[in-house]
Amino acid sequence: MNYKEVWKDHFKKLGNIGIQRKDVSDKEQTAIKGIMEYVIQAYGYEVFKNQCVLDYGCGIGRFFNMFDSADCKYIGLDLTKQNIDYCKSQYFSTFKEVDGEIMHLDDNSIEVIFTSTVLQHIPESGLLKLKKEFDRVLVPGGSMILFENTTEIESESEWVFFRPWTFYKDLFDFMDLQRKIDIIDIANEKHTLIIGGRK
Ligand SMILES: C[S@@+](CC[C@H](N)C(=O)[O-])C[C@H]1O[C@@H](n2cnc3c(N)ncnc32)[C@H](O)[C@@H]1O
Repeated sequence: MNYKEVWKDHFKKLGNIGIQRKDVSDKEQTAIKGIMEYVIQAYGYEVFKNQCVLDYGCGIGRFFNMFDSADCKYIGLDLTKQNIDYCKSQYFSTFKEVDGEIMHLDDNSIEVIFTSTVLQHIPESGLLKLKKEFDRVLVPGGSMILFENTTEIESESEWVFFRPWTFYKDLFDFMDLQRKIDIIDIANEKHTLIIGGRK
């Protein structure tokens, strides 16, 4: 099964992928709020104003409001068509389906790349393609904000890869990435907020 099929299958079982279930727990909501607050504190809304922000693997747009309040140009990309259709029905912005890791965006067209719990689902071969695409679309002086699973045990699931935060630091070697905060979720898994600018 390729990723698209994995996510299609997942969608059939769980419904909306992104918030996955309607019964999102308070703890998860608190974690999301924590990420938003940290990002806003670290950067301030002003920093995003008129900037082009790519939310890669946007799901059902949980982070749309954070960026929309900052008056930026928001682009949401996702592999799952149903999520993109849902976002288009809810929010007024650009949402597009991507096929694998190739995105139809111009070179040097994005100022901030944001991903929340997306890279952890992509095998290394896919991440190498994605790295090239991120490098191509991110402007000189651009930033990355990543929030990914960094749990220090082996993942039992075939579709989640637990990796140390330094894996992403080493992968995106054109960036100067730093670990900001760790958040432990309901399943006792660790997620790390990793932020940095282009070298
Ligand atoms: C756990 S959800 C997170 C969604 C959203 N970022 C959030 O935090 O609410 C993972 C999302 O990544 C998308 N996805 C998985 N593999 C992808 C890929 N290779 N390229 C783009 N999106 C992908 C899935 O369709 C899904 O919407």
